[in-house]
Amino acid sequence: MKKNYLHDVLIIGSGAAGLSLALRLPSDIHIAVIAKRNLNEGSTLYAQGGISAVLDKQDSVASHVADTLAAGAGLCDEKTVRLVVENGPKNIHWLLKEGVQFTQEDSAISSSGFHLTREGGHSHRRVIHAADSTGYSVETTLEQQARSRENITLYEHHIAIDLITSKQDNPTNRCTGAYILNLETEHVETFNARIVVLATGGASKVYLYTSNPDVATGDGIAMAWRAGCRIANMEFIQFHPTCLYHPKAKSFLITEALRGEGAYLKRPDGSRFMPDYDERTELAPRDIVAHAIDHEMKRLGIECVYLDITHKPAEFIQEHFPTVYSRCLKFGIDITREPIPVVPAAHYTCGGVITDHRAQTDINGLYAIGETAYTGLHGANRMASNSLLECLVFGQLACEDIQQVLAETPAPPPAAKWDESRVTDSDEEVVVSHNWEELRHFMWDYVGIVRSNKRLERAKRRVNLLRHEIRWYYDNFRVTNDLLELRNLVDVADLIIRSAQRRRESRGLHYTIDFPQTDDVTQKKPTILIPDNYSPRLSD
Ligand code: FUM
Repeated sequence: MKKNYLHDVLIIGSGAAGLSLALRLPSDIHIAVIAKRNLNEGSTLYAQGGISAVLDKQDSVASHVADTLAAGAGLCDEKTVRLVVENGPKNIHWLLKEGVQFTQEDSAISSSGFHLTREGGHSHRRVIHAADSTGYSVETTLEQQARSRENITLYEHHIAIDLITSKQDNPTNRCTGAYILNLETEHVETFNARIVVLATGGASKVYLYTSNPDVATGDGIAMAWRAGCRIANMEFIQFHPTCLYHPKAKSFLITEALRGEGAYLKRPDGSRFMPDYDERTELAPRDIVAHAIDHEMKRLGIECVYLDITHKPAEFIQEHFPTVYSRCLKFGIDITREPIPVVPAAHYTCGGVITDHRAQTDINGLYAIGETAYTGLHGANRMASNSLLECLVFGQLACEDIQQVLAETPAPPPAAKWDESRVTDSDEEVVVSHNWEELRHFMWDYVGIVRSNKRLERAKRRVNLLRHEIRWYYDNFRVTNDLLELRNLVDVADLIIRSAQRRRESRGLHYTIDFPQTDDVTQKKPTILIPDNYSPRLSD
């Protein structure tokens, strides 16, 4: 039977952004949380490093703001940066209240009572963490809390297909829900809601090599774009410099905190190379470190470089990096004795759905938070550990706004049910898996760390063909998880390529050999893509 639900707030996504918002909303608000897999399966769970916040007496808001602006290479929105940084400590205290256990430190050593680590671009120790599995601690704590709340209904193994909006010609165009595929029953269900929130994370799965889990397929960005929202800065994809290089180690990140605690990047002959590239050496911002690694790998024709922390005591390494230590040991690498083979991999989507300081998008009733959103915090390059902070702060801001908006928002009329009468089961699932492989390969080869006009044109031609094929497939066959994810990835790939083609300079995470000049003043603005069905938001 096709189900039809009505909730006050529909949150699509269950990472730090989605769950923190759900938990903060008052208990008389009925909330649905949608998760594609198990509730905790998403990028938050795998975040290792931590959360940046001004917690130490020696540190200051001004310093955190200045570091973020510097890492963002001239494209951060300073008001957003200040807003996020100022709200940082309050959000860490909220997490502590929810029960997250961060690594402690003697208060004679650290004024906050917590061990604060360093990461690239930060001029102070300001990253609070739970050893090297911060995301795991945050996500599982929030999950436990969410499971215990009566006003939160969790829909696991459900994937959103598209947003439901009132007609475009209606001056108060609103988002009133979403069509969602129940992956267990294989039926499309209609979720009606007074407020809809996109918190589906980023899109790094569009690349062949990524630190992200399989769910990072840009669903929220693609759905918002199709519904008529503007999207910004999609050319700025962050490649994390150090992911484990091992044939069997799918997507395993080696946290930047290792470099924060003194690890060196080395060539196969054991020599360090970061001092040749930047005076901040291994703790330069990520765009600089990833470029240096890419350059060394191409120059020397090598498959990886090495991260070496063997000069630190073994007990220190095991205590601070238990996850990295044990995972590497499983692959036969004892990081207390030998360097770790590493390569860069796609890690974070700095652009996304344009939102304001209330987390509202271009469509009434539709919010976006976390990696899905573009708030202006990250500019052309995200500073390490600012992302979980953004999830929490914008979860808080969305919560404050939603409570006011809900008071004036009646329940929407039930939307039309999903029509499956004209589609059949696909007899060629292989088309989807081949297209998926092809997309991820050409995005890596042509739209990766180093770009050129020719490479971007090649990628654009291929993505056009794929979009055409997927569209036909989508119109004629019953939807499946893989088809929906591929459809979203193809839309997001198109947004990345078009944004990269618009930026005729090299800045932050976008580097092109055709426009090597950095910081062209005429280009010092975000890249904004406007969909054909966009109409400026009018308030109700
Ligand atoms: O290296 C890391 O632990 C990643 C941190 C981040 O992406 O913020």
